Amino acid sequence: MAFCLVCTTMLLACCAAPENAKAPIFQTNYTLFDQNALPHNLANTQPGTIRVFVFLSTQCPIANANIPTLNSFNQQFVNPPPETNHKKTPEENTHTQKVQLFAVIADPYITRKESADHYREFKASFPVLFDSSCQLRDLLKPTHVPEAFVFDPQGRLAYRGAIDNAWAEVGKRRPAITRHYLVEAVTSLLNNQPPPIDKSQPVGCPVEYPAANQTPAPITYRRDIAPILQTRCTLCHQPAATAFPLNSITQATANANRMATTPCKGPPHPARQPTPRETELLKIWANSATPQGDTADWPPAP
Ligand code: HEC
Repeated sequence: MAFCLVCTTMLLACCAAPENAKAPIFQTNYTLFDQNALPHNLANTQPGTIRVFVFLSTQCPIANANIPTLNSFNQQFVNPPPETNHKKTPEENTHTQKVQLFAVIADPYITRKESADHYREFKASFPVLFDSSCQLRDLLKPTHVPEAFVFDPQGRLAYRGAIDNAWAEVGKRRPAITRHYLVEAVTSLLNNQPPPIDKSQPVGCPVEYPAANQTPAPITYRRDIAPILQTRCTLCHQPAATAFPLNSITQATANANRMATTPCKGPPHPARQPTPRETELLKIWANSATPQGDTADWPPAP
């Protein structure tokens, strides 16, 4: 009997967990640039860091209305102002984890420049990652903007959903905010506790995923390919190196078929291994007449 009880408890514990709670999410180590042209390698975090990703959109009023909320979160948990750097109490010293906040823009119809200009204009104090080829979006699958994803220090999804309950539904703001889901989730994790809830319904604008019968946005050099070559390949593939150069639009275009058909012969370099999607993007680009794309999509110069 006792055995069965344990058994049942274990089963319940397993099934109450969020779908991908145990999935190691950030094995992919690609680099995304923020609105200030700073690169962020998503694999490059200290062990024990709590990571928060919030999908936004420049065009969604509820997402824009949350920028000040995220600025406050950033100030409270990520970059406390100097005056709060008081001597830590023993209890605070047990909070060895750090918190990182990233917003994410993943919209094929917004250029890198539009996104950067928007978040500078709205004075976002946190990095807004430009997910040019929607890789992070396709990994986490947000349904709405804004939607927050909180990863515990082991990299497991601990909470996803609304930032708070400011909106009962679209167009209906509550008179007062009574739940601060994001703050609650991160505070719990800092206290080595699971968040009070692991999921809530985000309220905002639906994220548009391409329909199966829809032609996807074209894969272009400036938007999709240049960031891959810059973060994965040009360390070795540059003038005066043994490997042929890939650091200009002319060289990349001339070698498009070679990249699409021949695997790299270079020494394995784990941090620069392209993701399967990046390899696929190189192929799609080579096989679709290598469009150059919009100059407003240029990644920052290396
Ligand atoms: C750590 C260094 C390094 C990195 C990073 C690297 N390569 Fe290479 N690659 C080389 C070297 C060295 C060669 C061999 C050059 C030679 O033999 O002439 C090579 C060869 C190649 C070849 C020619 C293979 C053949 O058989 O002709 C291709 C295509 C290629 N790399 C693509 C890439 C792409 C695309 C990336 C980025 C996604 C990349 N490489 C990243 C070092 C590297």
